Amino acid sequence: MACMWRRLVPCVCLGVLGLLCWVWVSFASLADEQLPIGAWEAVDHAAFQPQSALSEMEFASISSYRGPGNNDHRSNKELPILLWWSGGLFPHFPGDTERIDCARSSCLVTSNRKVQLYKRTASIIFYGTDFRAYEAPLPRLQHQTWALFHEESPMNNYFLSHGPGIRLFNYTATFRRESDYPLTLQWLPSLDYLLQPTAGLAPVLYMQSHCDVPSNRDRYVQELMKYIQVDSYGKCLNNKPLAEQLEDTSTATGEEPNFMNFVARYKFHLALENGICPDYMTEKLWRPLHQGCVPIYRGSAMVADWMPNKHTVILIDDFPSPKELADFIKYLDENDEEYAKYLQFKNPKNIINTKLLGALETREWGVNDMSKPNYLNGFECYVCDQENARLALEKNHKKSQKKGEPPAPKMANNSHMGCPLPQPGYGDVQNLPEDDGWLQIWPQDYWQSLDQAEGLESLIRHNESDPSLLWKHIQNIAVSRARGHH
Ligand SMILES: *[C@@H]1O[C@H](CO)[C@@H](O)[C@H](O)[C@H]1NC(C)=O
Ligand SMILES: *[C@@H]1O[C@H](CO)[C@@H](O)[C@H](O)[C@H]1NC(C)=O
Ligand SMILES: *[C@@H]1O[C@H](CO)[C@@H](O)[C@H](O)[C@H]1NC(C)=O
Repeated sequence: MACMWRRLVPCVCLGVLGLLCWVWVSFASLADEQLPIGAWEAVDHAAFQPQSALSEMEFASISSYRGPGNNDHRSNKELPILLWWSGGLFPHFPGDTERIDCARSSCLVTSNRKVQLYKRTASIIFYGTDFRAYEAPLPRLQHQTWALFHEESPMNNYFLSHGPGIRLFNYTATFRRESDYPLTLQWLPSLDYLLQPTAGLAPVLYMQSHCDVPSNRDRYVQELMKYIQVDSYGKCLNNKPLAEQLEDTSTATGEEPNFMNFVARYKFHLALENGICPDYMTEKLWRPLHQGCVPIYRGSAMVADWMPNKHTVILIDDFPSPKELADFIKYLDENDEEYAKYLQFKNPKNIINTKLLGALETREWGVNDMSKPNYLNGFECYVCDQENARLALEKNHKKSQKKGEPPAPKMANNSHMGCPLPQPGYGDVQNLPEDDGWLQIWPQDYWQSLDQAEGLESLIRHNESDPSLLWKHIQNIAVSRARGHH
């Protein structure tokens, strides 16, 4: 979460500028039932009783960017509401409610959970790391969609990696290219970032202070260390002290110069993600590329799809054993010409991957770039435009006496996250001793998350309103499975 917040700075700053043009609108006596938008009629009135009005809430309207396609002149009280469910995360400042004017339409966004059961509340947005099945907003209303924002490691919440979990969401923004609003290159601020030239002299660096992780990277690096000298400065596998003033306080985009200069001295960086998943790539990959150090990488198996050219990273999993990898690193270390080939992308004419160039060119959000929306506000607007389009379709469908097909439902599937069962960093899971620390944590965490996903799916299917019944539902599923009914 810490990194997240550091990257939120631009949106907070925008909020402060926006203060100059606050318009406060308060509506004391607005009855939710009187809303003029026809879409609400599509809602099953018997399904729930809305609390009266948004009476205690004040709605601030910031004169935000209005896209050229946004002709939405409805007043605040007519707009659909998007509810940010996860306590700590509401990308607006100050207050808890705001109007957003997006590329094609407008919405109200709020972090006030009072609106949970309102007819006007069209969508609930969740921050993946904080999503808990036993705290989910229930009953789940037919007319409300769920939107998932998850840019952090898969290890933070394996719930989202299981089909029954991810399918509960209608819209997603994750690191996977298949998600609706992909954040795949979130740790790559720009093409320029890749071009910065620097050169390393010392051989292999490993710097990790987060040791008990599902990718089990230490187990591999430990094996590798049998064959080649690795300077390891972090808490994990530490074999060298780090000068105190060099603490790793950097992020991908806010980099502490002394620390950066220090790690840039290394020709190779062991760069292993904490969780393994397609398209999950972090600063562990992009930072060494930025610094002109060659990453020895394990993470997304499809990492080559995003590299500047075909000769930029060394993939651990291309080597049958740590010894063969060590031999190859030694070979490169002693052959300057071969080593230099890995840095040819520092010349822009050697950045030839059109997928990478295209993605950087077309993404609408920026990383620490004041001229572009950050991806939290970008995703929020994506959901807003989707919801307004859906509501309009539903309204038309109703008007036409339900001739023709109703709008097709939209939901996420495993390709939007779907990270695999964690595997040991080296060797076969069968051969691990029973008391192995990694074995006792991660496979269990993964399968318990599946139980929770199935449990929540069952709660929703039974229209329960008390999420703490989760455990009972999980137990019922287990019993029914034991009886061969599942
Ligand atoms: C679901 O539960 C809510 C509140 O608990 C109730 O008002 C509603 O009628 C139920 N809906 C269905 C379809 O059973
Ligand atoms: C949203 O997803 C839920 C659960 O997967 C699904 O039942 C519902 O039809 C979807 N809503 C829309 C509007 O597509
Ligand atoms: C899963 O989602 C992807 C991306 O949204 C979509 O292209 C694909 O058709 C979906 N797969 C299934 C089986 O629904």
